[in-house]
Amino acid sequence: MLAERFRRIRGLAWRVMDGIFENMWDYKFVPVEIISRDSNVEEHKVEKVLKSLSDEKLIELKQTEYLGGAFTFLGLSLYSLNRFVRKNIVTMLGKKMGEGKESMIYNCISKWGEAVIKFHKVGYPSFKKVREKRDYGDLHYTVLMVRSAKNEFNALKKLYGKVSVPKPYGWEGNAVLMELIDAKELYKVRLENPKDVFDYIIEEVREMWKLGIVHGDLSQFNILVNPEGIWFIDFPQAIDLNEVETDEELRMAEDILKRDVTNLVNYFNKTYRLNVDADRVIEEILH
Ligand SMILES: Nc1ncnc2c1ncn2[C@@H]1O[C@H](COP(=O)(O)OP(=O)(O)O)[C@@H](O)[C@H]1O
Ligand SMILES: [Mg+2]
Repeated sequence: MLAERFRRIRGLAWRVMDGIFENMWDYKFVPVEIISRDSNVEEHKVEKVLKSLSDEKLIELKQTEYLGGAFTFLGLSLYSLNRFVRKNIVTMLGKKMGEGKESMIYNCISKWGEAVIKFHKVGYPSFKKVREKRDYGDLHYTVLMVRSAKNEFNALKKLYGKVSVPKPYGWEGNAVLMELIDAKELYKVRLENPKDVFDYIIEEVREMWKLGIVHGDLSQFNILVNPEGIWFIDFPQAIDLNEVETDEELRMAEDILKRDVTNLVNYFNKTYRLNVDADRVIEEILH
């Protein structure tokens, strides 16, 4: 369905979307005049394209003193896919692997072979006390999707090679392209050696902490398992300790780490009747 919609979009429409993408950090709804200036498409044509993209639910229009356009989730996702396609990074879109509240995941063929493309659907508030100035401004929600994708890509890049995560291939708009892992979520699997797996997971979480990353949404839903190993996925909420500036922020990061670890301990204790003490594990990680 996504591939079909992708094929129907014409060159002029991609240029208009370029104009929106370039300016979405500065305008909640990008004025026709700005789109026209940056895409080099005459204003009356921009308007026509915008209206047709709005009929297709790819663009949201707003008429105030001027007519402005913003992406919808679907529009931004198709546009991000196009950025991969025109760079010859993605060559074919495959089947939808899943869609939840927070993302839409597709199989695809990339420069590196079979891969996964994750379209981010949500944004998270910045965890920092002193938030980005832009957080206070009137941003369109699709900008936050882009920020989520960027955050996930950055965390994967920092971790890959040192911690077991999918290899990150690229980031465009709200889309992250990464290695396809042929494994199941931890909660779907009945482990034979739960204590070994748990210990290994904690070792990896400790390694992440040493590398300056806190996952932020760790649970049995965001760990993939197969007989060869385990992989951590789903990093849009990851915290980079290098960006932490104050003691208070460091304490907040530690609290999020504690929440992550507690989720895992509770899951293993309940599912496999382990008798692990969360506080002890947290101490081990922090020291
Ligand atoms: N690299 C990957 N390889 C294989 N499957 C993946 C990969 N990334 C995500 N998935 C699948 O898609 C689902 C959702 O991805 P996830 O990153 O957890 O996003 P969400 O925020 O929607 O939970 C995962 O539970 C997993 O089944
Ligand atoms: Mg998930």
